[in-house]
Amino acid sequence: MTKITRIFMKTFALILLILITTTITFTNTHADVFNKVDYSRDVIYQIVTDRFYDGDSSNNPSEDIYSSDCSNLHKYCGGDWQGIIDKINDGYLTTMGITAIWISQPVENVYALHPSGYTSYHGYWARDYKRTNPFYGDFSEFDRLINTAHSNGIKVIMDFTPNHSSPALETDPSYAENGAIYDDGNLLGSYSNDPLNIFHHFGGTDFSSYEDGIYRNLYDLADYDLNNEIIDQYLKESIKLWLDKGIDGIRVDAVKHMSQGWQESLMSEIYNYRPVFTFGEWFLGTGEVDPQNHHFANESGMSLLDFQYGQTIREVLRDGTADWHVFNEMIESTADDYNEVIDQVTFIDNHDMSRFSVDGSSNRHTDMALAVLLTSRGVPTIYYGTEQYLTGNNDPENRKPMSSFNTSTNSYQIISQLAPLRQSNPALGFGNTKERWVNSDVYIYERKFGNNVVLTAINRGNSSYEVTNLNTSLPEGIYNDELDYLLDGNNITINTDGSVNSFNLSPRGVAIWQYTEESSIPLIGHVGPMMGQAGNIITINGEGFGSVEGTVQFNSTNANVQSWSNTEIEIKVPNITPRKYDITILNASNIKSNTYDDFEVLTGEQVTVRFVVNNAFTDPGTNVYIVGNISELGNWYPDEAVGPMFNQVVYEYPTWYYDISVPAGETIEYKFIKKGSSGNVEWESGSNHIYTTPMQGTDTVLVNWQ
Ligand code: NOJ
Ligand code: NOJ
Ligand code: CA
Repeated sequence: MTKITRIFMKTFALILLILITTTITFTNTHADVFNKVDYSRDVIYQIVTDRFYDGDSSNNPSEDIYSSDCSNLHKYCGGDWQGIIDKINDGYLTTMGITAIWISQPVENVYALHPSGYTSYHGYWARDYKRTNPFYGDFSEFDRLINTAHSNGIKVIMDFTPNHSSPALETDPSYAENGAIYDDGNLLGSYSNDPLNIFHHFGGTDFSSYEDGIYRNLYDLADYDLNNEIIDQYLKESIKLWLDKGIDGIRVDAVKHMSQGWQESLMSEIYNYRPVFTFGEWFLGTGEVDPQNHHFANESGMSLLDFQYGQTIREVLRDGTADWHVFNEMIESTADDYNEVIDQVTFIDNHDMSRFSVDGSSNRHTDMALAVLLTSRGVPTIYYGTEQYLTGNNDPENRKPMSSFNTSTNSYQIISQLAPLRQSNPALGFGNTKERWVNSDVYIYERKFGNNVVLTAINRGNSSYEVTNLNTSLPEGIYNDELDYLLDGNNITINTDGSVNSFNLSPRGVAIWQYTEESSIPLIGHVGPMMGQAGNIITINGEGFGSVEGTVQFNSTNANVQSWSNTEIEIKVPNITPRKYDITILNASNIKSNTYDDFEVLTGEQVTVRFVVNNAFTDPGTNVYIVGNISELGNWYPDEAVGPMFNQVVYEYPTWYYDISVPAGETIEYKFIKKGSSGNVEWESGSNHIYTTPMQGTDTVLVNWQ
């Protein structure tokens, strides 16, 4: 053997060894850090990096922006990536069953002390997206964080703020850092010295409309003009840098405050590069339901934090301002409103609302809420410290440092029991939800995927309830409480007809019963991502696919299969007419699966274009939309026209504008239409507008209404 061959064979043996060990590690838990697009069976732990654990005091800031005892919650307190590494290595996160962490935005932030005494400890005030926040660590520490997480079965999600840089005032360049933004050390511009026009200069939003929130500043944060091709390219390059670093997911800040069009082009870029699960923050207050939020989750390629879920569970189990009927209505309506409700990210509290636990009140509310969260549809997220019953009102009281890392709290135990259940019983990740018994205090709901069933019963009241006439899909038998009676649960007996013998549900009790049995026919549980262009890799998860390769179809077109196992298939998006498709699987014996609806095939690589039309006069209640010959412009269907267009900020009525994600380098035809409140449509006259989109970057195209 030559030396080269020997080296080659040694390397090969090493790779083989690594492959074998990783396979062994992950078959017991089923947690799969290699699947970066399906989080439905994961449990996310949200970490405010600065507040979790200080693993390296040598990187702490000095002087005016640091509070060594964290008595000033507006300043840095020393937490860092080394601290997270330490808490992974000592088992705090893995023993709890955590399979993903969401960390503060890792990029370099402003150093200045904000005039109101604030600092950028939270990571939301970027200064240079291509560098690290030195108070969290450097790139080598970030690499170690990723490696440590991955070798412990934990995915890493980073926060990302493409909406704005940092606090700035147009008239006062000395305010904080004047919003200055750098590209790996090179100044791109600042808010009062903006020669490249990377920022909007329309003042702050009063939140009066969707448009106002997009094109004006959020508070005092210097707002990017994402239609500017320098900032567009810079932000897309930056997220690719972090994707190259190995991140497994992205939480996008303030998605309600950026055009959907730009965000769609961002998502198509990510899915074309290294697809990872991405979810946005579209804040909703208590009781708020917003059809635009559903539309965004269904059309942008991004999931959303499920504020409807979060706010409702807080009403029922924290504040007592709503009951289980209201909760059940939320579960039923969101199942219809979101195309993929299991991809929305659920929570009971976070860094932008008061903590779930309340000083002076029983921790039992938190325990019950966690049990419901972990057995509900959607990807559950635990806000750091909720398992230690941290309390505090809004920001910054809700961002106190970890009080302790006690692994024996009831909440910690509940999470440790239920997180593995999300891995072992596919009903929790993939299943639908059915109400089985409900009154104001008691809610019994069933999650079901094929033959897999999880039944959860909760009684928030102070007296016990006798539950009679309960039916379930669980097969005949005696079932023990999966929570091991941590919340005073009971066992149940089920008869052949699915009726449950009556039982008493304890005051403030929760019980969980479950059954798993693999399906003999193929069942699709999840497809991710749900948008992509021909050639993009898509991952399908479920069960009963069989070990022998079958076929995957987009309507009736076969997709190229890249890999096939009994529970996971990878395919390439076929080269077909761009629009929405239903995905089905045929196993090797030609048995057909359920269909997974609404996969969006895009026309090609996407760029953002601002379409503008002058002199489009309308009666009150009538709006202007755009429609054209590509799926991104609704394929000439007025019902799928894009809009209503805007006419208040960047341009004003009778000029209308809208930022839209369209295929790059393509000649397209389009027209503007006026749609009245009663649905009546008026088309532009004359021939279609013809336009060739740019190969890359962004563009603005302006015409007169004809
Ligand atoms: C929403 C974040 O969650 C919040 O904490 C932050 O201050 C704002 N967006 C601005 O980035
Ligand atoms: C139908 C519309 O009536 C017309 O104005 C438009 O030009 C065509 N669709 C597209 O060719
Ligand atoms: Ca530190």
